[in-house]
Amino acid sequence: MRVAVLGAGSWGTALGATLASKGFPVRVWDIDREVLAAIADRHENARYLPGVALPPSLTASPDLAEALDGAELVVIVVPSHVVRTVVEQARPLLNDRVVFCSAAKGIEVETLMTMSEVLRDVLPEGMHQNLTFLSGPSFAAEVARGLPTAVTVAGTCETVTRRVQEAFHTTFFRPYTSTDVTGVEIGGCVKNVVAIAAGISDGLEMGANARAALITRGLAEISRLAVCRGADPLTLVGLSGLGDLMLTCSSTLSRNHTVGVELGRGRSLDDIKAALGQVAEGVLNSRSTRELALKHGVDMPISEAVYRVLYEGYSPAEAVPELMMRTPKPENGGYSRGGTVDGDVGFRP
Ligand SMILES: NC(=O)c1ccc[n+]([C@@H]2O[C@H](COP(=O)([O-])OP(=O)(O)OC[C@H]3O[C@@H](n4cnc5c(N)ncnc54)[C@H](O)[C@@H]3O)[C@@H](O)[C@H]2O)c1
Repeated sequence: MRVAVLGAGSWGTALGATLASKGFPVRVWDIDREVLAAIADRHENARYLPGVALPPSLTASPDLAEALDGAELVVIVVPSHVVRTVVEQARPLLNDRVVFCSAAKGIEVETLMTMSEVLRDVLPEGMHQNLTFLSGPSFAAEVARGLPTAVTVAGTCETVTRRVQEAFHTTFFRPYTSTDVTGVEIGGCVKNVVAIAAGISDGLEMGANARAALITRGLAEISRLAVCRGADPLTLVGLSGLGDLMLTCSSTLSRNHTVGVELGRGRSLDDIKAALGQVAEGVLNSRSTRELALKHGVDMPISEAVYRVLYEGYSPAEAVPELMMRTPKPENGGYSRGGTVDGDVGFRP
């Protein structure tokens, strides 16, 4: 099976290398020709994964038509805010049988669409059953080094999802399948916002209790949003929910957590962006998450506080006592799926 990977950043390269390690011919494409040249000539992505030797069957092309030629599996791993543009470019070059796996995490700021909604919007209906979404606790740098990792692949057609699972499955990379695309997507996206909150807390030296509280209450508000959009609450305590949230909130490898730490230490967002050289996705996701929460009437106090710190000049030190002094509530209230089920976290036999 021939594979095309759209996006040769850290995650695109790591996923491409994983597939190539199984012997699949994989071609990566990107707008960054320098990165592609290094992959093609030296089998190294010096910018995003320096020092990692890439398999020879991982090749690169700056020509989208060439990258997609004969591909049966197309993996989309560009930042979420450019997924629409990239898939629009690719659409005329694809046939109906191509299977997609999107590994981008985010909610489009302009439309509030998740990545599955963006793909369904751009691609013809006949291709919708071929869409899958990969998410979970997975730092690219670790996957690229062959360290053990488990993720979720979600899709509406079980046969297609199982094919993608099988394609990615190696001794170090273990995908589980799910039919809950919404739950997998919301968990993977909103965790970046909570990671900024956890980073802020760490930057303010609020301690381990505070971080654990943010992770847990962050999960509660992610779950409220996901369940109100039809997700299964169990998905949110799985790899793409709690798993990814724990990883992103507690490791210095996370760009979102780093943004939060620097905000907590009193640096401005502009300074942080300049130092990082890129926008951490949680910064954009914070805006779209807030809009989505308002649209659905879902209470998301941690995400709201992060939004205000990022976009309204709210001081992180002020946010903490405000969150602590909100009206006391039952721990498991506020879930709603087709009716009020307050007090029910949704675990079913
Ligand atoms: N890095 C990780 O560990 C990781 C893990 C899981 C999921 N993800 C998700 O994967 C996606 C990509 O993340 P990443 O970390 O690889 O990002 P990255 O910043 O390392 O790389 C992004 C790549 O996209 C390319 N790109 C940007 N705009 C483009 C365009 N218009 N057309 C073509 N290429 C374009 C850039 O040149 C770059 O090579 C994100 O949605 C992220 O949330 C990343």
